[in-house]
Amino acid sequence: GLDPVTVMKQEVGRAAANRVKSGSIVGLGTGSTTAFAIQCLGERLRSGELTDIRGVPTSFQASVLAKQHGIPLTTLDEIDRIDIAIDGADEVDPQKNLIKGGGAAHTREKIVDSLAEQFIVVVDRSKLVDRLGTTFPLPVEVLPMAVTPVMQAIEKLGGKPELRMGVKKDGPVITDQGNMVLDVTFGAIDNPAELEKTLNNIPGVLENGLFVGVADVVLVGEIKDNHPSVR
Ligand code: A5P
Repeated sequence: GLDPVTVMKQEVGRAAANRVKSGSIVGLGTGSTTAFAIQCLGERLRSGELTDIRGVPTSFQASVLAKQHGIPLTTLDEIDRIDIAIDGADEVDPQKNLIKGGGAAHTREKIVDSLAEQFIVVVDRSKLVDRLGTTFPLPVEVLPMAVTPVMQAIEKLGGKPELRMGVKKDGPVITDQGNMVLDVTFGAIDNPAELEKTLNNIPGVLENGLFVGVADVVLVGEIKDNHPSVR
């Protein structure tokens, strides 16, 4: 069988997918937890229990998964609303503010998730923090020609930026939009709302991974006595 962490991700992804109603336009997030939500949406469509949904993918990964599981896709140009979005996160604080972008998808994720009438975050317990920035560096998507000045500007703000490098590729990670990603260590972030705006004001920065006041619901997967549960 699957390991307990995978089972837990599956449970929390499913719990989110089960909140989607027929006729909805659904923001499809990125990452291993949301992947299970996309899978479950496909199963619900196939069983006939769910009908007439359309997905708005937040990444190449999400669009491939959606096609694989038979979820019809649409774009922001063709719709006038997103009813519900499901997405993972790398850190979640008690105010439901997030750090995202561990998969370098936060720019499109922020567009889709913040347009959604209801944004549901799916995480496991390990993502919960008292203050953002303590366990995960902040991803910042940057236009390639601006990487050097953006790094200098971020250092002036007290952050330590590192250009994200590929795992199975020599050289930097390139996002779905053709840009690069800086992972910035700030330590505990005092004012996420302010830092989110300050970073996006640096010329060459496209978007950073702080999501302040965007999440409506956080579903947390837990394992107790080897049993996964969602709260
Ligand atoms: C993608 O850029 C991120 O924002 C993901 O949503 C985040 O990394 C969560 O992924 P997992 O569910 O795989 O932890």
